[in-house]
Amino acid sequence: MKKIAFTETVLRDAGQSLIATRLPYEKFEPILETLDRAGYYSLECWGGATFDTCLRYLHEDPWERLRNIRKRVKNTKLQMLLRGQNLLGYKHYPDDVVRTFVAKSIENGIDVIRIFDALNDLRNLEVSVKETIKRKGIAQVAISYTTSPVHTLENYVALIKQIESMGASTLCIKDMAGVMSPKECYDLVKAIKANSKLPLHVHTHSTTGLAFMTYLKAVEAGADVIDTAISSFSGGTSQPATETLAYALTQLGCETGLKTDVLKEINDHFRPIRDEYIQSGLMDALVMGTETDALNYQIPGGMLSNLVSQLKAQNALDRFQAVLEETPKVREDLGYPPLVTPMSQMVGVQAVANVLSGERYRNVSKEVRAYLRGEYGAAPGPVNPEVLKKVLGDETPITKRFAGTLGDGLEAGRKDAGALAHSTEDVLSYIVFPQVAERFFAWREDQKTRRLPYTIVKI
Ligand code: CO
Repeated sequence: MKKIAFTETVLRDAGQSLIATRLPYEKFEPILETLDRAGYYSLECWGGATFDTCLRYLHEDPWERLRNIRKRVKNTKLQMLLRGQNLLGYKHYPDDVVRTFVAKSIENGIDVIRIFDALNDLRNLEVSVKETIKRKGIAQVAISYTTSPVHTLENYVALIKQIESMGASTLCIKDMAGVMSPKECYDLVKAIKANSKLPLHVHTHSTTGLAFMTYLKAVEAGADVIDTAISSFSGGTSQPATETLAYALTQLGCETGLKTDVLKEINDHFRPIRDEYIQSGLMDALVMGTETDALNYQIPGGMLSNLVSQLKAQNALDRFQAVLEETPKVREDLGYPPLVTPMSQMVGVQAVANVLSGERYRNVSKEVRAYLRGEYGAAPGPVNPEVLKKVLGDETPITKRFAGTLGDGLEAGRKDAGALAHSTEDVLSYIVFPQVAERFFAWREDQKTRRLPYTIVKI
């Protein structure tokens, strides 16, 4: 019987997609032991936006959250999402910071680190992959999925071979926008499986409504693990439902290892929580529906709504069509970066600027300038030389690994973090989110004397 394993995303991606990661630890603590009994391959529970949100909004030390989860989840692997050299932030951090962050993640309880880079520039992953393996973690390297003339099956397979030779433990196809079709997925999984023996995970979102079909084709083509969310936190911008896929795949002759009665217990816990977030308005009906515009425009749903709000803010909603036409042109000029954070924002802002200023690339953000300088890594395809000339003038872009130019950062971070940082974990929080961590440390110090209930005070 064919085995297909599941990663449950309710504690990370589902919450990030549906309720902006506002799930405090105390809301899911009572269900952790049950999650551990369900038979998942792993629980995705940390990294991504959870780290920032813990410190910024939930008054939680993310490291303490991780240790608390680990205490209650003894058998199932704990998984996190890491943006390679960007860690959980938005810029490139020095190598010693990246190594320490990875080491501390594993020391505090993480088993699987899913590592990716927005540009699929593997130089941005090599330090975190190496360190994960050194610390005996599972280094899962994810490719950011997109379609473009340079993102061919041949190029993806070549990328996978390089990833394999980096020493990755497992592979993942990461479709953060939910635009991968069943056919594209089938072809890609087949091609990867024909060229690599490593276990392959597939990650997608229900945004466009393709996900259930995409996963069925992924399994048919030989994928080993799929990412799903317990039903009350599934659908829309989240993952498709765990129970539904387990049901369908079991009938199709797969062995999922999941226990149906335990899944029901888990969903019974999360359903009233979901209802609470709908009531409070934190969960918007818009994120729950199916949004097919992304398929027509080849622009992820989240980016489309960003474009609309940018144009609204500048009172220029009538230029929406022009911006929709400009966006793929900007993407082409920049060498077809996948439209994921931070590239989706950079391309979107540039397309709006190009349309509204009446002259392409007259106004260029400092992020796009840095991208063209090579500070984010190598573009997937050739960059338009005219754009390069217009933006950078005579300056030559760097071709070596940007983080290699940074020197060490941990000790300087330790000094800057000051006396309220009590551990290396605190120092890492500070390096990645300085102002937010500083406010959190001060709040935490205050708690010791004021003894306020943990989540009452809003920063
Ligand atoms: Co995702």
